[in-house]
Amino acid sequence: MILKKLDNLFAEFTKELEGTTPKSLEIVRTKYLGRKSELNDILKSLGAMSLEEKKVTGAAANKTRIEMEQLLAAKENELNKVVDTESVDITAPGRLYPVGHLHPVTQVLNELVGIFESLGYEVADGPEVEDDWHNFEALNMGPEHPARDMQDTFYLTDGNLPRTHTSSVQIRYMENHKPPIKIISVGKVHRNENEDATHSWIFHQVEGLVVGEGVTFADLKGTLDLVAKKILGPDTKTRFRPNFFPYTEPSAEMDATCPQCKGAGCRSCGGTGWLELLGSGMVHPNVLRNMGIDPEKYSGFAFGLGVERIAMIKHNIPDVRYFWHPDTRFLEQF
Ligand code: FA5
Repeated sequence: MILKKLDNLFAEFTKELEGTTPKSLEIVRTKYLGRKSELNDILKSLGAMSLEEKKVTGAAANKTRIEMEQLLAAKENELNKVVDTESVDITAPGRLYPVGHLHPVTQVLNELVGIFESLGYEVADGPEVEDDWHNFEALNMGPEHPARDMQDTFYLTDGNLPRTHTSSVQIRYMENHKPPIKIISVGKVHRNENEDATHSWIFHQVEGLVVGEGVTFADLKGTLDLVAKKILGPDTKTRFRPNFFPYTEPSAEMDATCPQCKGAGCRSCGGTGWLELLGSGMVHPNVLRNMGIDPEKYSGFAFGLGVERIAMIKHNIPDVRYFWHPDTRFLEQF
């Protein structure tokens, strides 16, 4: 009779366990194994039974208890897995990912591009790995030209090179376009430099090229002076120092007054009050001829400015190498 009761109890238990949810699991446990459960009543009644009866009923009741416990544990495991993989706790706080921003050099680059676009310049592009013709030879720097030494670089095994300046884009553009030409080109350049606070082996340049009838050095000066004022502030003054580039004649470097001391002289500008921004000049007649453009009819000016140098001046950054280190403590400031 009791054995039959145990069988029924177990059958009832397994049926109920099947439809159990995480919430009702404890109710089932208490109902079938708790102090007030039928099984507990049976176990308690064993004491009043004869030895023979106790042996049989006790063994059966204990077996039922152990099986119930095992089945409950298995069910609990199964339900926990479902909770882990399927449930979404919509009250949990979200994961916050840090939001970045444009690199300070990219910010200055974008600003420069905006200024030149407002002056009617078109943006042209060229490859970062160049051949000797575009990087040197077409720019009036033959194989033995000593000016190549000023832009020593890394050479690839096929004779090509990471470009040393964006002036190569002047050539690429003039190969496919006739005057009037009014472009800038923006990008990375590489040089074999002894790195220091103002020289890194990789940096960005903005190149400019204007070719047309009657373009003069006054146009060059007016344009670059305006750009310096727009990017560094309206009080900025500029000066042009004679220089040499094989692809421009005459050539000049342009300095701007230091925005920190307004030209009085401070640590940022080495006490001179001036900071070098760019190289420039009137396009050499040989370069125009190389491109099939008649230098008797057309003239032009070109320039190449260092973007990191401008970013350093704008933000009073003492060392160009900071730009190339992924240190967020530095980058977060801009
Ligand atoms: C040139 O690269 C010429 N191609 C510029 C030019 C273009 C002249 C068109 C005439 C006509 P230069 O080597 O001086 O020139 O570099 C130009 C600018 O790049 C410099 O004024 C400076 O701002 C920046 N620059 C040069 N070397 C480095 C360097 N190692 N690290 C960071 N910036 C540099």
